[in-house]
Amino acid sequence: MKRAIYPGTFDPPTLGHLTIIQRASSLFDQLYVAIGQNGKKNSFFSIEERKTFLKMITQELHNVEVVSFEGLLVDYAKKMQIPVVLRSIRNGTDFDEETLLASMNAKMGLLETLYLVPDDAFRHISSSLVREVGRAGGPLHFFVPKAILEPVSVGLCVS
Ligand code: COA
Repeated sequence: MKRAIYPGTFDPPTLGHLTIIQRASSLFDQLYVAIGQNGKKNSFFSIEERKTFLKMITQELHNVEVVSFEGLLVDYAKKMQIPVVLRSIRNGTDFDEETLLASMNAKMGLLETLYLVPDDAFRHISSSLVREVGRAGGPLHFFVPKAILEPVSVGLCVS
């Protein structure tokens, strides 16, 4: 059985994340979408909110499970016996950061990292820009899956 983990902060999940999840779910038997902590970032939405958002947008993908973890990704993947990490690369900056992360993870846990490049239409999206647009009352439907448009908009507007 081919199993992979797609980790991220998903704060909030976007259309860019969703297309990566959809594509990955057809490549693997089981895909774990895993909310992790980035030591350098404070998240806006709580873990529970992000879990709910991810479950709402993936409910039709039956081989996708939404989880969260604390600590190192390699430790969690080892514990769950998941050999492959999936990340997406939008541009050169992502490439530089991701290859560094992949090398560190490989060194610590022999994880294999695979990359997917988002479709052109979603290559400009990032969660922090979505938060900025949402807080200013801008049109989030260009960036956020329909199923979570309302709770994400409300969460950002009341902040
Ligand atoms: N669509 C939309 N946005 C995308 C995207 C896509 N396809 N691909 C990347 N992004 C954006 C995200 O929205 C996010 O944007 P933001 O910075 O504006 O919020 C940014 O790219 C990168 O975020 P993310 O994918 O969430 O990764 P990250 O760099 O924050 O890392 C973890 C998150 C959980 C994977 C990482 O911190 C981790 O592994 N943590 C556990 C501790 C650990 O093991 N650390 C590694 C030590 S070597």
